[in-house]
Order: sequence, then structure tokens, then C-alpha cells
Amino acid sequence: MGKKIIVAIDGFSSSGKSTMARELAKRVGYVYVDSGAMYRAVTLYAMRNGMVNTDGSIDEEKLVAALPEINITFQPAGADGVQHTLLNGEDVEKEIRSMEVSSLVSPVAVIPAVRERLVALQQGFGKEKGIVMDGRDIGTTVFPDAEMKVFVSASPEERARRRFLELKEKGVDAVYEEVLRNVEERDHIDTTREVSPLRKAADAIELDNGSLTPEQQMNWLMDKFQSIEKENI
Ligand code: CDP
Repeated sequence: MGKKIIVAIDGFSSSGKSTMARELAKRVGYVYVDSGAMYRAVTLYAMRNGMVNTDGSIDEEKLVAALPEINITFQPAGADGVQHTLLNGEDVEKEIRSMEVSSLVSPVAVIPAVRERLVALQQGFGKEKGIVMDGRDIGTTVFPDAEMKVFVSASPEERARRRFLELKEKGVDAVYEEVLRNVEERDHIDTTREVSPLRKAADAIELDNGSLTPEQQMNWLMDKFQSIEKENI
């Protein structure tokens, strides 16, 4: 077996990258970090502390001033198999998945100081390697030297369909058209923002997962992981 590596998985919203990253980490005994959950937790903090204006825009100045008070950590998966996101020690895993957070998170993630703070936290999590992190800018900005980079894509309709089913399963009220609109809106904001826009790193391997079953996808990922880890003595 080779040395521990860093695995960066980037892609569009609801492309299935979190499920994939989580499962890979579990199989190879690595730490899993959901960087999107961190942007969601900051968004929840802004919502709770009166930093969202009535027109839905973010009070950037207030939020940036509060950043030093925001700490985000993860509680490893317990019996339910789900890793929980903690905002200043409070378990906010359920709240951060709401549609309200989903609709405000991309505007929050555009703010350069927010990105700076979260990227620093993320790099800290990866110091010892042996980590799988998923997001939008992991292979380009957070870990540009990651040994393994994957870029996941699938059509907006396919992604919205999946997210819709996922929300339904969790008992969250959702309308497909609304979910699709949210997916498209976030795609747009994420790819066109100035700081660390979502794009495929030049050395990332691309996976169109609309065409694979979850099992085929995992096999593909494990193969890549094993060959890259082996090279990395
Ligand atoms: O819900 P989904 O899995 O599609 O997205 P997420 O991974 O939870 O991320 C939510 C939002 O956070 C994204 O739409 C991006 O706007 C932002 N994000 C980011 O800017 N950079 C990251 N590394 C991760 C997420």
C-alpha cells in the first residue's frame, strides 16, 4: 500500500458527488469532509443572525465581521451512518439541508472573505492527508496538489430529479420545478463567480455519472483510487 493521499471530488450541485465521496472514504478508511456543508452552515448562521436583507441579499459587511466567531466541525458518522455538521458546537445537519439554505448558499459562497475562511479550515483538515473532500473548488483552490482529482457531471434534469427524490425521502416538501430552478440557479452562480468558480481542474479525471449505476460508479472510483495510491509510494 502507498502513502495516504488527498482525494478532491468536484462537480455541479446534486451530481451525487457527496454520496460517492462519503462511500469512498468509508471503504478506504479516510476522513470525509463535505465542504458544501460548511458553506451551508455559514449561510444558516447568517439567516439566524439577521444578516439576510428583506430582498434576500446578504448583509456582507455584517457577515464578514462575524466570521471569526463562526466555527465549523464535523461529528463522525454514528449509528445512523451520517456525518453531522456542527456550527459552533451545535448539530445543524438537518437545518442546513433546507430549501431556504439551498437558495441562499450560493450568494454566501460568492463572498471572498467567506471563501478565504473556509478554505483555510479545509486545508487544516487535510494537513495529515488521508482525506476525501467534495465541493466546487477542491481540486483547483483548496488542494491544487491533490494526488487524485475527480470532476463529476450529469445533466441539470437528472440532478434535479435525484435531489427531488432525496428531499422526498427525508420528508421535506418539494416541487420538482422548484428544485430544478434551484439547481440551475446555483450552477449559474457557481460557474460565473469571480473567486474560485466551479471548473474542472486540468488534471482532474471526468466522470459523467448520469450514465452509470451507483455500483459501477463506485467500482470505477475504487479502481482509480487504488492505482493512484499504489503509484504514490
Ligand atoms: O446541495 P449540493 O450537494 O449540490 O451542494 P453543496 O455541496 O451542499 O454546496 C452548496 C453550495 O455551496 C454550492 O452550490 C456552492 O455555491 C457552495 N460551495 C462552494 O462554493 N464551494 C465549495 N467547495 C462547496 C460548496
